[in-house]
Amino acid sequence: FVHSRSLTELEIGENGAIGVDENGIIRFVERDFHEGFEKLMAYVEENKDEWVHAKVVKIEGNGFFFPGFIDTHVHAPQHPNTGLFGKTTLLDWLKKYTFPMESSFSSLPRAHRVYQNFVSRTLSHGTTTCSYFATIHVPATNALADICLKRGQRAFVGRVCMNSDLSPEYYRDESVESSVRDSKASIDYIRSIDPNGEIVKPIVTPRFSPSCTPDCLSAMGKLAQETDTHIQTHISENKGEIALVQELFPSSKSYADVYDTHGLLTPKTILAHAVHLSPQERKIILARKSKISHCPASNTAITSGCAPIRELLNEGHTIGLGTDISGGFHPSILENVRQAIWVSRHLAITTNDSAKLSTEEALYLATRGGAAVVGLEEKVGGFEVGKEWDAQMIQLGEVKQEGNEDGIFEEGPVDVFGWESWAERVEKWVYSGDDRNTVAVWVRGRLVHNTSRYTGAEGTA
Ligand code: GUN
Ligand code: FE
Repeated sequence: FVHSRSLTELEIGENGAIGVDENGIIRFVERDFHEGFEKLMAYVEENKDEWVHAKVVKIEGNGFFFPGFIDTHVHAPQHPNTGLFGKTTLLDWLKKYTFPMESSFSSLPRAHRVYQNFVSRTLSHGTTTCSYFATIHVPATNALADICLKRGQRAFVGRVCMNSDLSPEYYRDESVESSVRDSKASIDYIRSIDPNGEIVKPIVTPRFSPSCTPDCLSAMGKLAQETDTHIQTHISENKGEIALVQELFPSSKSYADVYDTHGLLTPKTILAHAVHLSPQERKIILARKSKISHCPASNTAITSGCAPIRELLNEGHTIGLGTDISGGFHPSILENVRQAIWVSRHLAITTNDSAKLSTEEALYLATRGGAAVVGLEEKVGGFEVGKEWDAQMIQLGEVKQEGNEDGIFEEGPVDVFGWESWAERVEKWVYSGDDRNTVAVWVRGRLVHNTSRYTGAEGTA
């Protein structure tokens, strides 16, 4: 198994064994299964009643378990727009592509089709937790929560709140009252289907400052406080957007100050982008313990800028990765690991080398960092006793499909994969891997996705 030991360090348990109980909780982590075999057997012997029905999932060849990815910022209804952005930047992109697409989710059957497909897609890329923006529509938002619960993907699901005239008349909340009423209806529904919030949780979602009137922002801050929910929004993504915020909120000191003065900067707040924050804004965000979602593919696609993630990490910010579909062009967090590294390298080219993120750091952001952003750092993001089994099984190497001339499954030749150190294999996965390598995915111990390469659990321990 492979996971982050710290921001800068991966742990590779080459002969590891992890025991997961029927509730999906990790009960033991043996770092060296061969040397630790007796200890493991003694544990099983001692706890026989519990482990007698245990099944063994073996990884052979160039494979390893990795923690499930956490997508801290993603717009599920924008799935059909993935890859469409042309030469737009944020504000014209919203008008040209996003609002028309999202408004079509007034159709519940359409929402069902798109959301089913998108949850399958993100699971297939190893994403075990998502923080979703839905649309303004309560039935469609609730349907997304239903689908996540049914499929077993951990999710924060937010009905988008937007009442200002930035949005077209055909796609906005009618009033502050309707904004609060609809957001509350969705919070109540999501809590009714998963009362302990084990898989799905509601999240208060004011789209971004320009989409909401000041009284609406305050109402959302109050709603989040009263219902003790997380909050998600966008901040400082694009220079035109920042200028617009200054114009719309002339008495505010900054974009971050708008959120702060409306009660929206809390330890449970996820702020997407944070590309152009001033030192003062960074200080407020840090002081309020709000979290940052870095969306590198999106920031390049719609030319928002290069977020200075290495600097923000140095200052102590809590940061995870977001695909930001469809500002971002790819539903995979692995792709965004690469993009985070690329963006940091472009920054390094124009500033200095210290801006660079390492492979280890980007993988940390994708797992433990993301877990901390959504407040689940005690539960997921790594493999420790007491954490929940949210994991993906990775298999490297090419596979000849059944029915080829030999009719057999076969890993690629050993001089392509398998000659390297394990750290190098992980590195090769990061730069050239994709969903074909993700052969099985679990959330809380439940198998939620697998490909034909997954041979399944065998026997009884
Ligand atoms: N700002 C406001 N809405 C959006 C959105 O849907 N995507 C992105 N990337 N930024 C936004
Ligand atoms: Fe976004």
